[in-house]
Amino acid sequence: MTGTRFWHPYADMGSVRHSELVMDHAEDVWVWDTDGKRYLDATAGLWYANVGHGRPEIRAAVAAQMERLGAYSAFFDLANRPVLELAEALAERAPMPSRVFFGSGGSDGIDTAAKLARRYWWEVGEGDRTLLVSRTAGYHGTHGFGTALGGIASNRHGFGPLTDTIQVRHDSLEEMNQAIARVGPERVAAVFLEPVIGAGGVYPPAPGYIEGVAELCERTGALLVVDAVICAFGRLGTWFGIERWGVTPAMIVFAKGVTSGYLPLGGVMISDRIAEPFWAKPRGPIFRHGSTYAGHPTCCAAALANIALLECDGLLGRGREQEQALFDVLAPLADHELVAEVRGGVGTMAAVELSAEALDREPRVIASLARKVRAAGILVRPGARAIAVSPPLTAGPEHFELIAQGIEHGLNALQAEAFAAQRASDTLARAF
Ligand SMILES: Cc1ncc(COP(=O)(O)O)c(C=O)c1O
Repeated sequence: MTGTRFWHPYADMGSVRHSELVMDHAEDVWVWDTDGKRYLDATAGLWYANVGHGRPEIRAAVAAQMERLGAYSAFFDLANRPVLELAEALAERAPMPSRVFFGSGGSDGIDTAAKLARRYWWEVGEGDRTLLVSRTAGYHGTHGFGTALGGIASNRHGFGPLTDTIQVRHDSLEEMNQAIARVGPERVAAVFLEPVIGAGGVYPPAPGYIEGVAELCERTGALLVVDAVICAFGRLGTWFGIERWGVTPAMIVFAKGVTSGYLPLGGVMISDRIAEPFWAKPRGPIFRHGSTYAGHPTCCAAALANIALLECDGLLGRGREQEQALFDVLAPLADHELVAEVRGGVGTMAAVELSAEALDREPRVIASLARKVRAAGILVRPGARAIAVSPPLTAGPEHFELIAQGIEHGLNALQAEAFAAQRASDTLARAF
């Protein structure tokens, strides 16, 4: 086989092997490829570059930590200064009294939360509580539990039997209620919920939905696990996103924006109630779980510098302050013939969904649209039915305007291509 040797995640390698887009450098909201072409990064990398690219403060913190103690295990009784400091900093900012379990990313965090939810129930004498509830369109990463919890159908296919989970429609509290009642609340360990569904197509929750899920969890005993991998660190204008609804989760999974993606890091905020059986006394139960890079000092140093930037530059609140401006500039695209809906308005993230007709006409239409928008100099994220945007929190109205123009350009190019194909097939039909 010819072409690249790099197997890209989630990629059609039959095509990509000869057509990679190779990035070279980045500065704030801009990224340049190796040919020198500049793009507006409307996706903040992969929903993570909240403070923008190329921040010297993070670079300096990472370099200083590398010089001192680049890496060291944090298993058993080992620790390092950055991990202790970061655990304190996160706990101070969390919406509930908590402990922190670190890993390398969001998928790690989801599997940690799923295992801990089951292990907690086993420890307190309710070992039948093993079932996990999740929602259609939800995305919870690629590890074992995350794949089973995921609600994007194509991501679940072909892997054989997955862990048994209960999946309910993402917008129906009633369906969740009924599903838990049907299996029996005494069998349900936890409900996993993204405050705003991200990769599945940017679905903000209906008013009252999140409060309703929290109340259902309270009533049935199911642990509320908030997947804030996208929504935290300013994307919704608060530290963990979920504060906007005033509910108290049992656990919060975070990653991405915790370092703005400069280095890989994720973890779980674990409420003191869930930690208690494991922390209460010496020779107590041990949570036998942890990955090699948990508590990696250099990754934690990057996170500390990133948190300082979010705070000192006033970026934390911008995810909320600018949510309406981003939505307003994209909303008129809903009138485009190829568009079914524009979603957003909660956090600096939005999606433009294509019409059923456009999606039916050509199975790869979303990828094709994303490429056309890219040709106009804007990087957007293709999903199953929509393209999504989530620019760095340093972006402002002038960038939102460019994003809207780029998407409109892509839609028009797509439409022109469809017309041309139609004309060609009409001509062919007339010839015979
Ligand atoms: C909501 C959510 N959860 C979990 C994950 C998985 O995170 P990671 O890719 O860092 O493993 C993602 C990644 O996009 C995500 O968006």
